[in-house]
Amino acid sequence: MRRAGALNAEQGRKKDKGRVAVQRHVVARAEEIPPGGRKIVRIVGRGEIGIFNLEGTFHALKNVCAHQGARVCLGRVVGTALPSDVYEFKFGLEGRVLRCPWHEWEYDIATGEALFDPQVKIVRYPVEVVDGSIVVIIGQ
Ligand code: FES
Repeated sequence: MRRAGALNAEQGRKKDKGRVAVQRHVVARAEEIPPGGRKIVRIVGRGEIGIFNLEGTFHALKNVCAHQGARVCLGRVVGTALPSDVYEFKFGLEGRVLRCPWHEWEYDIATGEALFDPQVKIVRYPVEVVDGSIVVIIGQ
């Protein structure tokens, strides 16, 4: 008969085998990327990541478009037409929409979601600012 403690330790080891280790990467100083700015960084083994500053909040997006893999973070940051009534034109999300340079799919930088379908997404990574350094967290 096994002791309950021994069984739990074994289960824990099995569970850890499938888990991806969390990695924290310092990618820039916060002052390097002013509001409205961006920086593309390369993380060994992870490829390129675009760091965007939206009104003082940093967002990290993998530099791969969900459509055909273009380096989407090199695209223009724009606004877009919002849903509106007939004969009405509403423009919004200025400075928050990333437009892919290849076929112009548009993504919300804050969520990574395509504007036409939130199920279509660019990979996002959590970001922290620690002592003035921007830290991207991978594997969380
Ligand atoms: S590769 Fe980005 S829209 Fe086609």
